[in-house]
Amino acid sequence: MNYRLIDLKVHGDERGKLISLEGMKNIPFEIKRVYWIFDTLPSQDRGMHAHKKMEQIIVAMDGACQFVLDDGKTREKVWLNRPDQGLYIGRNMWREMKNFSYGCKLMVLANDYYEEKEYIRDYNDFLKEVNE
Ligand code: TYD
Repeated sequence: MNYRLIDLKVHGDERGKLISLEGMKNIPFEIKRVYWIFDTLPSQDRGMHAHKKMEQIIVAMDGACQFVLDDGKTREKVWLNRPDQGLYIGRNMWREMKNFSYGCKLMVLANDYYEEKEYIRDYNDFLKEVNE
């Protein structure tokens, strides 16, 4: 399975807490794109796709959601519910995001620009791609 949870170093004192993300340091790629998801609803799932080349780190800045991760052979579920933890998802991983808390805020760092061509949005196409 090409994913892992990464504990992010927290700089904390009596004023609060701070986390810094740097490409090729605590993030295992150069960061080319940042986007975030907000105004989520528990009834609305997202994702349902894989990427041929994209690598991402996802942080639940606020709230929680569940990731279903699938490499074409195995399916695992991971809760993302801490602002000090990053979920790394590598290439060729099918992902579904479910069970969002109301107003969950997910920040996503990616190693490349948005390109729709790079998405696999059909599960059967994904299975063909990983089994080739
Ligand atoms: P979508 O891929 O459906 O989001 P999710 O992976 O959370 O299910 O993206 C929603 C819309 O936003 C879709 O029209 C594509 C667009 N989009 C961009 O323009 N740039 C981006 O970086 C991303 C991730 C999406």
